[in-house]
Amino acid sequence: MAYNLLKGKRGIIFGALNEDSIAWKTALKVKEEGGSFTLTNAPIAMRLGKINELAEQCNAAIIPADATSEEDLTKLFIASVEKLGGKIDFVLHSIGMSPNIRKGKPYGDMNYEWFLKTLDISALSFHKLMQTAEKTDAMNEWGSIVALTYIAAQRSYPDYTDMAQAKAMLESIARSYGARFAKLKKVRVNTISQSPTRTTAGAGISGFDVFFDFADMMSPLGNASAEDCANYTVSLFSDFTRMVTMQNLMHDGGFSSAGMTQELVDRLSK
Ligand SMILES: NC(=O)c1ccc[n+]([C@@H]2O[C@H](COP(=O)([O-])OP(=O)(O)OC[C@H]3O[C@@H](n4cnc5c(N)ncnc54)[C@H](O)[C@@H]3O)[C@@H](O)[C@H]2O)c1
Repeated sequence: MAYNLLKGKRGIIFGALNEDSIAWKTALKVKEEGGSFTLTNAPIAMRLGKINELAEQCNAAIIPADATSEEDLTKLFIASVEKLGGKIDFVLHSIGMSPNIRKGKPYGDMNYEWFLKTLDISALSFHKLMQTAEKTDAMNEWGSIVALTYIAAQRSYPDYTDMAQAKAMLESIARSYGARFAKLKKVRVNTISQSPTRTTAGAGISGFDVFFDFADMMSPLGNASAEDCANYTVSLFSDFTRMVTMQNLMHDGGFSSAGMTQELVDRLSK
C-alpha cells in the first residue's frame, strides 16, 4: 500500500546494481511513494549490472558517476537538477567496496593502497557527494541524505576487515556533515545500520551465511530485509522525520540491543 509520502520530491539514488541491491528495492519503493529520481552507479557497474531494467521500471534517467570522482559527482548533481526540473530533496548513498575483501586479504596482510581505495569508495565518497551538493547548491531546504552502514563500525567481525574502518568513517562523516548541512540548509544526514542482507556486496564477505543466520537468531524480530530497509529509508526521506539528523539508526530487528536470545540458547545447547 502506498501513502504518497514522497509526492513531488526529487532525488538521486546511488548503488543499484541488480534486483538484490538495497538501492534497487529503495528505488522501487520511492517510486511507489511518488518520488522522482535519477539513478547512478560506477561506469563499470553499468556493464555488469542491470540498472537499465530498473530505470525503465521507474522512468528514471541513469547518470553514470564514479562516486570517488569529484568531477563525475559535479556533473551528476548538475544534470540531476536539470533532468528532474528542480533541486534535490533526497539522496541515498548505497555504496561499498573493499579490494582487500574482494581479493581475500586477511586483516594482518592488508594492501594499503587497496585499504585507501576501500575508504575512498565506501566512506570518503559520502563526504564528496555532500560537498558537491553544497558547492553546486543542489539541495532543497529540509532535504534528507541517507547512507547505509553496518554494525562492524562499532564491533569486531571476522572477515569484514578494512570495511569496518570505512563504516566507522562513514558514520562520523554523517555527524560532521550533518551538523554543517543543518545550519546551511536544514538538510538532515543520517546512516542506517542494516542487518546482514543477501546482496552482491553482502555475499562478498566470507562466511556470510553463518553471519546471516547468527544475526537472525540474535535479533528478536529477525533480520531486517532489503525491503524493510527500503521502507525505513522512505520514512527518512519523508517529512515525518524532519528533526532526525546526525544519527546512526539501527535497523536490525533488535540485534544491537540483544544480549542473548532463547533461540540461540536452544541452538547452542544441542
Ligand atoms: N548486504 C549487507 O549485508 C549489508 C549490511 C549492512 C549495510 N550494507 C551496505 O549497503 C550498501 C549497499 O550494498 P548492497 O548490500 O546493496 O550491495 P550491492 O553490491 O548491490 O551495492 C553496492 C554498490 O556499490 C557500488 N559501487 C562500488 N564502487 C563504486 C564507485 N566507485 N562509485 C559508485 N558506486 C560504486 C556498486 O556498483 C554497487 O551498486 C553498502 O554500503 C553496504 O555496505 C550492506
